Amino acid sequence: MSLFRPVIDAMQGYIPGEQPTEAGWVKLNTNENPYSPSPEVKKAIVAASDGRLNIYPDPLVKAFRESAAELFGVDADWVLPANGSDENLTILMRSFVDAGEQIAYPYPSYVLYETLAEIQGAKVARLPLTPDWHFDWKTTDPRVAASKLAFVPNPNSPSGNRWGDEELQWLTPEKGLLVLDEAYGDFADKPHKAELLQSEIGKRMVITRTLSKSYSLAGIRFGFAIAHPDIIAGMRKVKDSYNCDSIAIAAATAAIQDQTWMLTNREKIVTTRTCLTEALSEMGFVVTPTQANFVWCTHPDHAEGKIYEELKSRKILVRYMKFPYCGPEENEHREGLRISIGTEGEIDMLLKSLKELVE
Ligand SMILES: Cc1ncc(COP(=O)(O)O)c(C=O)c1O
Repeated sequence: MSLFRPVIDAMQGYIPGEQPTEAGWVKLNTNENPYSPSPEVKKAIVAASDGRLNIYPDPLVKAFRESAAELFGVDADWVLPANGSDENLTILMRSFVDAGEQIAYPYPSYVLYETLAEIQGAKVARLPLTPDWHFDWKTTDPRVAASKLAFVPNPNSPSGNRWGDEELQWLTPEKGLLVLDEAYGDFADKPHKAELLQSEIGKRMVITRTLSKSYSLAGIRFGFAIAHPDIIAGMRKVKDSYNCDSIAIAAATAAIQDQTWMLTNREKIVTTRTCLTEALSEMGFVVTPTQANFVWCTHPDHAEGKIYEELKSRKILVRYMKFPYCGPEENEHREGLRISIGTEGEIDMLLKSLKELVE
């Protein structure tokens, strides 16, 4: 007999992207930044590890909150740091959704939302996306209206498209919150959306951000939420007392204070993204226009799963994704490749292999 809660026994668990431990891979599968973090990060980590590791870190993470608040033009009590953006998603689920209540999210997008809901014993409404990754409704969908939280990646993953302000209105539950997951927000054309928070729907919105992608700190685990202070104060009651460790706080604070470093790497990634999109299109791939640090593509004549396997055998890792139940028919699914933007050299290696495979 299992001692686990029935919902835990019933669930499959989230499967993260592969993380090979040996060297020599071209790793384009989990949207990490191919460039190193700011040199200030290393200095800050050394200083923090020379410092007082025997005492607990600042539970309110004041230094980071002040820097992030300044960047987004809000007060520090609008910011909640966490051990990666995923932790803030967990805190949101635990803060607002009771067992039996509902969350909604665009489908296909970030499947972790569904996993977190399963753990909580909550219901999930998938909001199906059209083949061009939009909604086929023009008002708040009843599935959104009936939800406590709507989780919406902006830009979306795996497609890379960004939602318009009107779509965001439709995605805001009448008696709940819109969680705008901006993990890839810095790669979009108009990066900061904090002004939305000051608008009418802003009172019912939480923005989540991460340092894993644009700040090259996936190995450190640091993210933050921005929302009205009443929302942040409630979420703070749910978080672990010391959810961010001293080393991570030092690293993240140094990283966010070096905007020049982040923006320079962002420019390089956006340039490589354009080159990759053009080259893939020339090879016959159908590429979704993207505002993130990855592209989503399919090929009319070649099975994407096979391309993924062939690339893997050459030590090039991309993400092959297959989403079931994507249409009215039960067996309708959507599959394709999500390719993270690497360095110019890495993308050249990828393109050389792809040429051999599809041309
Ligand atoms: C849409 C989305 N949200 C959140 C995250 C998690 O970010 P973090 O590394 O800060 O936990 C990811 C990571 O891939 C993501 O794709």
